[in-house]
Amino acid sequence: MLVKIDELARRLPVDFRIGAATSAWQIEGSSQIRGRSIWEDFAAIPGNIRDGAGADPACDHINRWKEDLDLLSWLGVDSYRFSVSWPRVLPKGTGKVDDAGLGFYDRLIDGLLERDIEPVLTIYHWDLPSDLQSKGGWNWEGISDSFAEYTEVLAKKFADRVSMWATLNEPYCAAFLGYADKVMAPGKGNPASGFEAAYRLLVAHAKSVEVLRQHKARNVGVALNLTTFIAEDAGAQAAANQMDGIMNRLWLDPLAGRGLPTDIVEKTRNITDWSFVNESDLASIAAPIDWLGINYYNPQRIASPRTSEKTGVGNGQRLDAYPGTPPIAFVPKGPLTEMGWEVDPSSLITTLKTTQQRFPGVPFYITENGGAFPDPIVNGEIDDQDRVNYYAGHLDAALTAREEGVDLRGYFAWSLLDNLEWAEGWTKRFGLFHVDRETQKRTAKRSANFFRELNARRPKA
Ligand code: FCB
Repeated sequence: MLVKIDELARRLPVDFRIGAATSAWQIEGSSQIRGRSIWEDFAAIPGNIRDGAGADPACDHINRWKEDLDLLSWLGVDSYRFSVSWPRVLPKGTGKVDDAGLGFYDRLIDGLLERDIEPVLTIYHWDLPSDLQSKGGWNWEGISDSFAEYTEVLAKKFADRVSMWATLNEPYCAAFLGYADKVMAPGKGNPASGFEAAYRLLVAHAKSVEVLRQHKARNVGVALNLTTFIAEDAGAQAAANQMDGIMNRLWLDPLAGRGLPTDIVEKTRNITDWSFVNESDLASIAAPIDWLGINYYNPQRIASPRTSEKTGVGNGQRLDAYPGTPPIAFVPKGPLTEMGWEVDPSSLITTLKTTQQRFPGVPFYITENGGAFPDPIVNGEIDDQDRVNYYAGHLDAALTAREEGVDLRGYFAWSLLDNLEWAEGWTKRFGLFHVDRETQKRTAKRSANFFRELNARRPKA
């Protein structure tokens, strides 16, 4: 393993950013001292969260943030990607700012800077204030103005100190897992709502970019989950195109100024009339961004139903999340992570190269990458060799893509801590640090040591 770390470290360009990522709802806890979010509403319905976990205490990060920042220092990372909880800053989504809530992020950002770690702030990582959901959430036309208002609160306070801004995290998941399908909050299960939510998320992104620019925020971007769809047989090709259209092109095409992908609009006319779209929004969505974040975990391998023995049961492997797609089977090939996701670093290279063709001239960051594995604790230690292999394999792929011409500037591991994995609760652990759900004790896994060694050995500027 040592050799591999040395080789990876040697290939890391001096200005390449290595970081770790988290999100507010998954780690913060202390939900009683903020406004309510759609994830508390979703978690309150029995059966929605696999182990019945709720927002509290999560990783109790609100109280343990200093200790958590020290973990980042111990890892030796350049950057930390975190998200702000909208209802902690604006309990009702708009209107009165909660100074204590905003103050938490103020201290967090200063704490990062004191430790010489760059703050990378995600404005929206899925925890919409419930009061905005009651107006229709991402199906409400006014949502983009509320998002602009929320952005302005953050930009005014933090534009001088935040190194990189992401407007949204994985809007595909917000729209298609939360509105088209019902496996994430708000759990709508209505295909037409999924497309409308997707569009309104894009409009909100555009308005947020505008506000960030007004406040001279540095490095403004967005984090998308993008991947490669692999059709195992000719019969699954049409489905692969449709799925690629919904997960990748529906976002990249408008951001790159090409408008909505016409094949997707045509193929979904029986689902939605797209009457919410207008040209002036599309023009603002195309406003330049400084970087694109790519969250990559696994490829999606599919086949005609009749050619496959069994269909996948992993997260994200439901046709409801890809409305209008002809029937197919999900056929992930092992090795699989605990999420049921295929481990395939080569598809990261393909994804980066395809995305560069679709969105040329914009620097990329891998804003999330990682895996859930069983992580047994033996004598107080977590020897997560599977995760180390996952990281080493994907870092190798990322650097290969860069060496072959992709303008990739950094890589963020998901995640710093074991945390609340949304509808999976505590049943899936992605952390570099193990978190004991009862005692909140943090323990470095072997994978944390891997990143510490990597950062210690890489060439310095
Ligand atoms: C991504 C999410 C992140 C985490 C990982 C495993 O889709 O952005 O919050 O849940 O998956």
